[in-house]
Amino acid sequence: MSEEAPKPICEDHVLKGRRLSNRLRKEVKLEVEKLVEKHGVSPKLVTIIVGEDEGSQMYVRMKHKASNKAGILSEHHDLPDSMSQDELLELINKLNEDKTVHGILIQLPLPKQIDEKTIISAIDPLKDVDGFSPANVYRLFYGEEDLSAATPHGIVTMLDRIGWDDLSGKQAVVINRSNIVGKPLIMLLLNRNATVTVCHSRTKDLPSFTRQADVLVSAIGRRTSDEDPFFITEDMVKEGSVVIDVATPHGDVDFENVKQKALCVTPVPGGVGPMTIAMLLKNVLDAYIAQI
Ligand code: GUN
Repeated sequence: MSEEAPKPICEDHVLKGRRLSNRLRKEVKLEVEKLVEKHGVSPKLVTIIVGEDEGSQMYVRMKHKASNKAGILSEHHDLPDSMSQDELLELINKLNEDKTVHGILIQLPLPKQIDEKTIISAIDPLKDVDGFSPANVYRLFYGEEDLSAATPHGIVTMLDRIGWDDLSGKQAVVINRSNIVGKPLIMLLLNRNATVTVCHSRTKDLPSFTRQADVLVSAIGRRTSDEDPFFITEDMVKEGSVVIDVATPHGDVDFENVKQKALCVTPVPGGVGPMTIAMLLKNVLDAYIAQI
């Protein structure tokens, strides 16, 4: 009997991040099962939150649940807001030395007495499953994409899987210049031959850029309720483009109207968010493979 064809990732102008994420998570789970049987050691992810940020708590809970479902062990450290940088460095050094730990993830943001760059630089690059450490950023610069940042890697993986893996001649416009999303995404898009433009809060006449975009990635994220006006409206989008909305919990993009014009648009929720989780699990798997 012939197997049913897998459902498309882009269907009815919707770019189904959750569907692709579920597929990738299953692949990770199967690979983990095989390797655990062979080596008798399970992959393990350790997460750290410093302080009380509610969003961080929620995102990290999701990361643990997904890890456990994929056969990845996980451990969490909830640390007080008042913690010193030296105390955090001591914990990172301990985790770097611990052979049972394959991935270390320090959820950002950190409290102001702790220097983000110092902390991220202290993580063993082999265990840096966020892809934020200097060694992994440098590797991405040279086109090596394993252990690269999960959200941007999830975005280009969606593009790859709808056949937009070579962006030669295409314009990509990214509205975000953060270290977590915008900057690594520039590299990933360049690796695929896109002509990349980065817009941000100081950009003048944003629509003149977005209207040129074959791939438009928006990560503004300043809407505080579903009643706030959208940042990306139908008139700002090119016909037949791919539009990726990174903002949570309230998307930047007027999904219902933009969908009529674009080739496909990611929904919020169910688009980029689930892909971030899948790419993190893939990074934990790759880190584990490199260490066993
Ligand atoms: N804060 C917001 N996004 C992320 C992420 O992808 N990784 C970490 N560590 N912190 C974040």
